[in-house]
Amino acid sequence: MSAAEQNVLILPGDGIGPEIIEQAERVLRTVADKEQLNLNLDHALVGGAAIDATGGPLPAETLAKAKAADAVLLGAVGGPKWDGLEMARRPEKGLLGLRSELGLFGNLRPAILYPQLASASTLKPEVVAGLDLLIVRELTGGIYFGEPRGEHINANGEREGFNTYRYAESEIRRIGRVAFEAAQKRNKRLCSVDKANVLEVTVLWRNIMNDLAKEYPDVELSHLYVDNAAMQLVRAPKQFDVMVTGNMFGDILSDCAAMLTGSIGMLPSASLNENGQGMYEPIHGSAPDIAGTGKANPLATILSVAMMLRYSLDAATAAQRIEDAVSRVLDQGLRTADIASQGETAVSTQAMGDAVVAAL
Ligand code: IPM
Ligand code: MG
Repeated sequence: MSAAEQNVLILPGDGIGPEIIEQAERVLRTVADKEQLNLNLDHALVGGAAIDATGGPLPAETLAKAKAADAVLLGAVGGPKWDGLEMARRPEKGLLGLRSELGLFGNLRPAILYPQLASASTLKPEVVAGLDLLIVRELTGGIYFGEPRGEHINANGEREGFNTYRYAESEIRRIGRVAFEAAQKRNKRLCSVDKANVLEVTVLWRNIMNDLAKEYPDVELSHLYVDNAAMQLVRAPKQFDVMVTGNMFGDILSDCAAMLTGSIGMLPSASLNENGQGMYEPIHGSAPDIAGTGKANPLATILSVAMMLRYSLDAATAAQRIEDAVSRVLDQGLRTADIASQGETAVSTQAMGDAVVAAL
């Protein structure tokens, strides 16, 4: 008897989204076939694609399907075509709305350097060789969602923009727990990143992390201010095991960490809620400048499929198969433009997908 069917909702989005999703979906179908997983794949619109078709970035139908799914796989959203829209109607609101509506507060962003790509990083190979760090980013709070927000005319009659950086204790605690538990499964070192020398909200953040540390005596907790953390990430990134931080600092530091690994085109992510339901996406954006040229690296999305199998679909063996296949393809010397060193010929998005499917 086969296992109960699991529903995966696929949201290609904009820019390179559809191209990378196409390859990731082939990989998912191939591995599902080989591992006899009972998956039902469905598709829906989000971001600019949804704006064009329905007028809004997160149609009710997409949200309903996402809520009902066991996991969501997303490409990327946004592009110059929609940049002129007011904030509430932009493609990014589709993504932020999904994160918020599904309660996906725990964002895991691993940055692993594949030894085959040590020379693709702009940092010296000895600085990045062996890098394996995990950024745990709070994803549904902080300045991204804080109210009040907007633009008004201030007391001087000037236009003024404003956002609010706030975190409730419960929000800090639950992301802290995700991070401590992740550290327990790794090298048991956790660095919490804040700006407690300036921002009250992060003084609370730091105090709560210290509080939680008492419940995880096997994990060594340290703290860094975000400016120093950014510097340390490029100076000596291997000092880190797990980093935990708020929404905006996590956004910035994870792009920085991505470049340590050679290319943002390599990094997957998982965004989880309390029930283990998750959304999986590459950490890069929609790269409108290369959309349709076949240059995009599909590996971040393919590796996001692996995270989805592991964290939401209870298929760790299938996840491992994908990760091994990616490693083998890199061994074979296949490189998309973003990870090709000088003199190496770059392969297309499709050719990279073909190679991973073949390696499976
Ligand atoms: C990310 C992206 C998003 C973010 C954008 C597209 C809204 O940069 O997932 O890191 O800022 O969270
Ligand atoms: Mg980002």
